[in-house]
This record gives sequence, structure tokens and C-alpha cells, in this order.
Amino acid sequence: MDFDDLDIATLRRRSGEKWNTYPDDILPAWVADMDFLPCGPIRELLRQRIEIGDIGYPDDASYVELREAYVERAEQRYGWRIDVDRVVPLTDVVQGIYGALLTLTDPGDGAVVQPPIYPPFLHAVPESRREMILNPLAEVDGRYEIDLDDLQRRIGPRTRMLLFCNPQNPTGRAFSRGELEALAEVVLRYDLLVCSDEIHADLVLSGASHVPFSSLSPEISERTITLTSATKAFNIAGLRCAVAHFGSAELQQRYATIPEHYRGGLGSFGLAATVVAWRSGQPWLDEVLAYLERNRALVESFAEARLPGVRHRAPQATYLAWLDCRDLQLDGSPYEHFLRRARVALSDGAAFGAVGEGFVRLNFATSHSILEEILHRMASALA
Ligand SMILES: Cc1ncc(COP(=O)(O)O)c(C=O)c1O
Repeated sequence: MDFDDLDIATLRRRSGEKWNTYPDDILPAWVADMDFLPCGPIRELLRQRIEIGDIGYPDDASYVELREAYVERAEQRYGWRIDVDRVVPLTDVVQGIYGALLTLTDPGDGAVVQPPIYPPFLHAVPESRREMILNPLAEVDGRYEIDLDDLQRRIGPRTRMLLFCNPQNPTGRAFSRGELEALAEVVLRYDLLVCSDEIHADLVLSGASHVPFSSLSPEISERTITLTSATKAFNIAGLRCAVAHFGSAELQQRYATIPEHYRGGLGSFGLAATVVAWRSGQPWLDEVLAYLERNRALVESFAEARLPGVRHRAPQATYLAWLDCRDLQLDGSPYEHFLRRARVALSDGAAFGAVGEGFVRLNFATSHSILEEILHRMASALA
């Protein structure tokens, strides 16, 4: 597929929020959708279904197939062998975060969140009436790391759960096995449950790898719920389909106290497209990853040469660049500055927690030429 072949006028005809939230003179580089068309097998599948009016309720077999496809993928990609009976379909990953908090902890219990982080983590805890325990990632020589000393100081008698994000949005960290093992030790020592959002696992770029947290050991698995989907890596977020893996029957039974109809059924397109993505989409994804790596390099070299005062460490995973603009000493936020002066819509770092103030997140999953335009506009806004 030719990822260079993106036309702005055509992108603006899309109905999704990425290209519709801002006026036409603004280039969007915010919400985590890619601009590329989904892979051929997904487009072909959806085309065929529409042609024969195949838009009715999905049958039970579609749900079974989703769970089986996830089990196959977990083993093929990550050498992680899991039981299909422990896999539960969800409408989306964030639903799983809320469901885990509501069923696996009690009101007033504490849940640890590690900002800067994908904003729904920060909303889920207070909205679920749990106490939020902030354990910010530490910046060590420009790289974000889990601060285990701080974590252990903050854990109290009612701290029950860690809401973990790996690979991490917005910092792009793909935590190493060693880092995960050190975290696992703390989890065991303080008897925590872990809700591990691994939605970006298939977007790990060369130089790093993904280790499912639950795969570390049987003791860790039995206290971990893993959430993921095909929606980020295969660019089908509007289809709403995800899965949860429960490391123990007990966690799964507690989660199942949310009635099935309240959780809601999945759309037939999401179920089928996810199966096709996981089973037939890898050649396309390999090409996307190679393209994203070139974009990652472009952002890195451009920021270094042309965005003075903006500090940046290239992400190990995701197509998101986390840009530290604190040294620019702007009057307002860098988000507002680049929106007004560059006509580029980035994500406001402040939405990722107070530690994100002074940062912006740039989505580089677009063509080289659109990315170049975005970067040049940003450079002009700093000139
Ligand atoms: C870390 C993380 N979790 C979850 C989501 C959203 O997943 P879903 O749309 O399945 O709720 C995103 C979207 O960008 C994300 O970055």
C-alpha cells in the first residue's frame, strides 16, 4: 500500500473526529487515529458484507472466533499461551478499565495511576469513586521510567489496583522485561491487582519489544487483567471491539457481575474486522511499522534541528511523539500556541495529568508530506 498517497481534501471528507473537530485551515495531529486506509483484507471484508446486506446481529460463533483469534495472536506475537475461556469480548478497552475498577475493587479503595497518561485513566478512578493514587513516571536522562520507590511510599492499606499502560501513551515507552519484573515484585509484595492496558502492543517499533505483563509468571497472571484490541495497530477505532484476558477464573467471575446486556453487544463489523486484522493483517502492519519508523526519525531530526527549545525522546512504541515545550517559556500552553500560530492541532499535554503541562503530543501516523507540513508550520510558529 502506498502510504504517501494521502490527499488532504479526501481526508477532510471523513466523518471521524480527527479531521472534523477543527476548521479546514488547521492540520490535525491529535487523536490517536492513523490517516492510512485499513489493510486490504479488512476493506474487502466490509465491502462484501455491505454488498449482501450482512449487517444483522452477529452470531455466537463470531464471538468465539474473536476469542480464538486473540489466543492465537498472543502466542504467535508474544509467545504468551492463554486459555480461550479466560478471554472476554468488550466493546472497547476503556470499558474494561472502568469494569475492572468497579468489580475488582470497592468504593474508597485506592487505584494507582502513572501520569503522564492517556486521559481516561485519570477520569476512571474518581468517576468510579475510588481514591486515585498518583505515581508519576520519573524522567531519568530524558527517558521516562517507573518510579518504584515513589510507588512503594504511596501504597496504603486500601490500595488495591495498579492501572498500568504498556506500551505507554503518551511517552511511547515499551517497558523492558527487567522493568516489568521489578514492578511485578512490588505488585506481589503489596498484594495489588493489575489492570494492564496493552492496546499499543502491536505498535512497538524496532529497537524494543512487547512483553505482556500477565506473561511474567503464574503468580502475576492470576492477579492481572489484560486489555487490548486491534483498533490502534489496524486503524479501526470506530468499529468498537476489544478483548480482556483474565489471569484467574475468580477475577473473571467478579467482572461478570456486570450484566452482559449492560456491557452491551459488539458490532458485527468490529468482531469480523478484528479477526481478519489479527489473522491476515500482519504484512500490512509490518509495512505500516516501517513507515512509522521513518516518520519517527523525521520528527526526531526535525525537532533537534528546527524546533529549538523543544525536547524530545523518540518513542519506542506508538505513533505519538511527546514533545517537552517547557523551555519555550510560552505565555499560554504550547497546545494553544501551535493551534493559533501554526494552525496545527496537537493534543494538550495537560490532559495527560498535571505533569504533562508544558508538553504536547504529536500524532505522526500520516504521510511524510503531511507530516513535513505539520513540522514546518510548527517551526514557523517558533521563529
Ligand atoms: C492507552 C490507550 N488505551 C485505550 C485507548 C482507547 O481504546 P478504546 O477505544 O478501545 O476504548 C487508547 C486510545 O488511544 C489508548 O491510547
